Amino acid sequence: MTTESGAAYAGTLRRVVGRHPLVTRLQVFEDIGSTNDEGLRLARAGAASGTLLVADRQTAGRGRHGRRWESPQGVGLWFSLILRPELMLNRAFGVTAAAAVALVRLVADLTGVAAGIRWPNDVLVGSGKVAGLLSELGGRGERVDHLVLGVGLNVGQTPGDFPPDLRESATSLSLLVGHNVDRAVALDRFLEFFAPGYVSLVADDGAGVRSEWLRHAPIVDRLVNVDLGEGAGFQGRAAGLAADGALIVDTEFGPREIRAADVRLLRPLSGETR
Ligand code: BTN
Repeated sequence: MTTESGAAYAGTLRRVVGRHPLVTRLQVFEDIGSTNDEGLRLARAGAASGTLLVADRQTAGRGRHGRRWESPQGVGLWFSLILRPELMLNRAFGVTAAAAVALVRLVADLTGVAAGIRWPNDVLVGSGKVAGLLSELGGRGERVDHLVLGVGLNVGQTPGDFPPDLRESATSLSLLVGHNVDRAVALDRFLEFFAPGYVSLVADDGAGVRSEWLRHAPIVDRLVNVDLGEGAGFQGRAAGLAADGALIVDTEFGPREIRAADVRLLRPLSGETR
């Protein structure tokens, strides 16, 4: 469990972001509802690309599909980065994919452990989720006006810091490596690994980031169960990633592109990322 004060955390973050030109402005909150909510509000009001909002604690952290994201004080890296990439809306997934790849590299760098990506963008070690991403967009015609990249990275939690229903399915960097990991160092690594992928998106239409993403996604080429909700679903072989982030699943009736579903390996091997 990290014990540094809010002021010390803010000071360290300020030094870290000074090394990363991608970040143009930093706001640190001891307490906020959700950095994504604040990021969306600021982005709609015209905030510059590179505005970074970091919270020591969120009281209404949001995950995908309207789920709650547990964001207790002192133990996690909870942030939102406002970006204004020159991309078509249907290529915006590349930003989130670049962030997922950066998180995988960060986990390897700080813990020596290999993480994997679960489509679309969860970062897991074995079956334990260490980070999640929530990107929210505003468009201008068919182009991205602003994208708020929300990152939740579990850094210092011990098992007792997770609510009982998450204890089996969540992990933290400190648990993986066996000692405390500094949240500001984690942010430093994230920005270092994310920036080149982000910058490459415009030049190559996301091809480089997509192939990196595929390298870290253990479901590729494996049999998966696709749960579409309300009892609907099917099984097939995960075959790749479309340019807009859809998962391509080969079925007996031909390939299908999945844009919203719960996708799991049909037969996870023990200890494997699902
Ligand atoms: C998920 O896995 O469902 C996505 C979780 C995203 C959580 C982060 S924490 C910072 C930012 N603010 C939020 O309210 N959510 C994102």
